[in-house]
Amino acid sequence: MKKAIYLIGFMGSGKSTLGKALAEKLQIPFFDLDDELIKTYHLSIPEMFEQWGEEKFRTQEAEKLREFDLSKAPFVLACGGGTPCFFENMVWMNTNGQTLFLDPPVSILTKRLAGSEDERPVLKKHSQEGASVHWTELLKKRRPFYLQAASRLASGSPKLDEVIHMLNS
Ligand code: S3P
Repeated sequence: MKKAIYLIGFMGSGKSTLGKALAEKLQIPFFDLDDELIKTYHLSIPEMFEQWGEEKFRTQEAEKLREFDLSKAPFVLACGGGTPCFFENMVWMNTNGQTLFLDPPVSILTKRLAGSEDERPVLKKHSQEGASVHWTELLKKRRPFYLQAASRLASGSPKLDEVIHMLNS
Protein backbone atom coordinates (compact mmCIF):
# COMPACT_ATOMS: atom_id res chain seq x y z
CA MET A 1 0.00 0.00 0.00
CA LYS A 2 1.96 2.95 -1.26
CA LYS A 3 -0.76 5.41 -2.02
CA ALA A 4 -2.67 7.93 0.04
CA ILE A 5 -5.87 6.43 1.45
CA TYR A 6 -8.80 8.83 1.37
CA LEU A 7 -11.79 7.99 3.56
CA ILE A 8 -14.97 9.64 2.39
CA GLY A 9 -18.63 9.52 3.38
CA PHE A 10 -21.40 11.46 5.03
CA MET A 11 -21.05 13.09 8.46
CA GLY A 12 -21.16 10.39 11.11
CA SER A 13 -20.06 7.62 8.76
CA GLY A 14 -17.03 6.90 10.95
CA LYS A 15 -14.22 8.28 8.78
CA SER A 16 -12.09 9.52 11.68
CA THR A 17 -12.68 6.50 13.92
CA LEU A 18 -11.87 4.00 11.19
CA GLY A 19 -9.06 6.18 9.84
CA LYS A 20 -7.22 6.27 13.16
CA ALA A 21 -7.57 2.53 13.72
CA LEU A 22 -6.51 1.75 10.14
CA ALA A 23 -3.48 4.03 10.30
CA GLU A 24 -2.44 2.49 13.60
CA LYS A 25 -2.75 -1.02 12.26
CA LEU A 26 -0.81 -0.17 9.10
CA GLN A 27 1.65 1.96 11.07
CA ILE A 28 1.25 4.94 8.81
CA PRO A 29 0.26 8.54 9.65
CA PHE A 30 -3.37 9.61 10.08
CA PHE A 31 -4.73 13.05 9.18
CA ASP A 32 -8.15 14.61 9.41
CA LEU A 33 -8.89 17.31 6.85
CA ASP A 34 -11.10 19.34 9.22
CA ASP A 35 -8.39 19.24 11.90
CA GLU A 36 -5.78 20.46 9.41
CA LEU A 37 -8.02 23.42 8.50
CA ILE A 38 -8.60 24.17 12.20
CA LYS A 39 -4.83 24.12 12.85
CA THR A 40 -4.04 26.36 9.90
CA TYR A 41 -6.72 29.00 10.41
CA HIS A 42 -7.14 28.83 14.21
CA LEU A 43 -10.90 28.71 13.77
CA SER A 44 -13.39 25.97 14.60
CA ILE A 45 -15.46 24.54 11.72
CA PRO A 46 -18.61 26.44 12.85
CA GLU A 47 -16.51 29.63 13.05
CA MET A 48 -15.24 29.10 9.50
CA PHE A 49 -18.80 28.74 8.24
CA GLU A 50 -19.88 31.84 10.19
CA GLN A 51 -16.96 34.05 9.23
CA TRP A 52 -16.29 32.84 5.69
CA GLY A 53 -19.54 31.32 4.48
CA GLU A 54 -19.66 27.86 2.90
CA GLU A 55 -18.20 28.94 -0.44
CA LYS A 56 -14.88 30.06 1.02
CA PHE A 57 -14.84 27.01 3.32
CA ARG A 58 -15.05 24.76 0.23
CA THR A 59 -12.23 26.64 -1.47
CA GLN A 60 -9.95 26.33 1.56
CA GLU A 61 -10.92 22.68 1.99
CA ALA A 62 -10.04 21.86 -1.62
CA GLU A 63 -6.73 23.70 -1.28
CA LYS A 64 -5.83 21.88 1.93
CA LEU A 65 -6.67 18.54 0.31
CA ARG A 66 -4.17 19.25 -2.45
CA GLU A 67 -1.49 20.40 0.00
CA PHE A 68 -0.88 16.90 1.37
CA ASP A 69 2.55 15.85 0.25
CA LEU A 70 1.93 12.72 -1.79
CA SER A 71 5.61 11.84 -1.74
CA LYS A 72 5.05 11.09 1.98
CA ALA A 73 2.33 8.51 1.21
CA PRO A 74 1.13 6.12 2.43
CA PHE A 75 -1.05 7.93 4.92
CA VAL A 76 -4.72 7.89 5.80
CA LEU A 77 -6.76 11.06 5.36
CA ALA A 78 -10.30 11.34 6.75
CA CYS A 79 -12.10 13.90 4.60
CA GLY A 80 -15.05 16.08 5.55
CA GLY A 81 -18.50 14.88 4.53
CA GLY A 82 -18.72 17.47 1.76
CA THR A 83 -15.16 17.18 0.43
CA PRO A 84 -15.95 14.82 -2.49
CA CYS A 85 -18.75 17.06 -3.77
CA PHE A 86 -16.81 20.21 -4.71
CA PHE A 87 -14.10 21.30 -7.15
CA GLU A 88 -13.44 17.95 -8.79
CA ASN A 89 -12.04 16.77 -5.46
CA MET A 90 -13.24 13.25 -6.14
CA VAL A 91 -11.37 13.11 -9.45
CA TRP A 92 -8.30 14.47 -7.72
CA MET A 93 -8.43 11.87 -4.95
CA ASN A 94 -9.04 9.02 -7.37
CA THR A 95 -6.07 10.15 -9.43
CA ASN A 96 -3.75 10.49 -6.49
CA GLY A 97 -4.74 7.74 -4.11
CA GLN A 98 -7.20 5.09 -3.04
CA THR A 99 -10.69 6.21 -2.11
CA LEU A 100 -12.94 4.31 0.27
CA PHE A 101 -16.59 5.28 0.76
CA LEU A 102 -17.96 4.54 4.23
CA ASP A 103 -21.65 3.93 3.72
CA PRO A 104 -23.36 2.76 6.91
CA PRO A 105 -27.17 2.44 7.04
CA VAL A 106 -29.11 5.68 7.56
CA SER A 107 -30.36 4.38 10.92
CA ILE A 108 -26.77 4.37 12.18
CA LEU A 109 -26.10 7.85 10.79
CA THR A 110 -29.26 9.11 12.51
CA LYS A 111 -28.07 7.81 15.88
CA ARG A 112 -24.55 9.17 15.46
CA LEU A 113 -25.63 12.59 14.26
CA ALA A 114 -28.20 13.16 17.00
CA GLY A 115 -27.26 16.25 18.99
CA SER A 116 -24.21 17.16 16.90
CA GLU A 117 -25.79 20.16 15.09
CA ASP A 118 -23.69 22.72 16.97
CA GLU A 119 -20.42 21.29 15.70
CA ARG A 120 -21.78 20.58 12.20
CA PRO A 121 -23.09 23.74 10.49
CA VAL A 122 -24.34 21.88 7.41
CA LEU A 123 -26.41 19.59 9.60
CA LYS A 124 -27.75 22.53 11.58
CA LYS A 125 -29.07 24.11 8.41
CA HIS A 126 -31.00 20.93 7.63
CA SER A 127 -32.20 20.21 11.15
CA GLN A 128 -33.51 23.59 12.25
CA GLU A 129 -37.17 23.86 13.00
CA GLY A 130 -38.97 24.71 9.81
CA ALA A 131 -36.17 23.44 7.57
CA SER A 132 -37.84 22.15 4.43
CA VAL A 133 -35.07 19.71 3.56
CA HIS A 134 -33.95 16.95 5.89
CA TRP A 135 -30.27 15.92 5.86
CA THR A 136 -31.21 12.62 4.21
CA GLU A 137 -31.99 14.68 1.07
CA LEU A 138 -28.46 16.05 1.16
CA LEU A 139 -27.15 12.51 1.51
CA LYS A 140 -29.11 11.53 -1.63
CA LYS A 141 -27.59 14.43 -3.56
CA ARG A 142 -24.11 13.52 -2.41
CA ARG A 143 -24.32 9.80 -3.10
CA PRO A 144 -23.34 10.06 -6.79
CA PHE A 145 -20.09 11.72 -5.70
CA TYR A 146 -19.43 9.19 -2.95
CA LEU A 147 -20.12 6.34 -5.36
CA GLN A 148 -17.17 7.44 -7.48
CA ALA A 149 -14.92 5.95 -4.78
CA ALA A 150 -12.81 2.95 -5.73
CA SER A 151 -14.31 0.90 -2.87
CA ARG A 152 -17.43 1.05 -0.72
CA LEU A 153 -17.93 -0.29 2.77
CA ALA A 154 -21.58 -0.69 3.77
CA SER A 155 -21.03 -1.91 7.31
CA GLY A 156 -21.57 0.40 10.29
CA SER A 157 -18.74 -1.25 12.21
CA PRO A 158 -16.27 -2.56 9.65
CA LYS A 159 -13.58 -5.02 10.62
CA LEU A 160 -10.07 -3.75 10.07
CA ASP A 161 -8.89 -6.91 8.33
CA GLU A 162 -11.81 -6.64 5.93
CA VAL A 163 -10.90 -3.01 5.17
CA ILE A 164 -7.24 -3.85 4.59
CA HIS A 165 -8.19 -6.75 2.34
CA MET A 166 -10.41 -4.40 0.35
CA LEU A 167 -7.64 -1.85 -0.03
CA ASN A 168 -5.19 -4.51 -1.15
CA SER A 169 -7.44 -6.08 -3.76
C1 S3P B 1 -19.26 18.81 6.39
C2 S3P B 1 -18.78 17.81 7.19
C3 S3P B 1 -17.86 18.08 8.31
C4 S3P B 1 -17.09 19.37 8.09
C5 S3P B 1 -18.01 20.50 7.78
C6 S3P B 1 -18.86 20.23 6.54
C7 S3P B 1 -20.22 18.45 5.31
O1 S3P B 1 -16.97 16.98 8.48
O2 S3P B 1 -16.16 19.24 7.05
O3 S3P B 1 -18.85 20.68 8.92
O4 S3P B 1 -20.47 19.30 4.42
O5 S3P B 1 -20.73 17.31 5.32
P1 S3P B 1 -17.41 15.55 9.09
O6 S3P B 1 -17.95 14.72 7.95
O7 S3P B 1 -16.13 14.99 9.61
O8 S3P B 1 -18.42 15.78 10.15
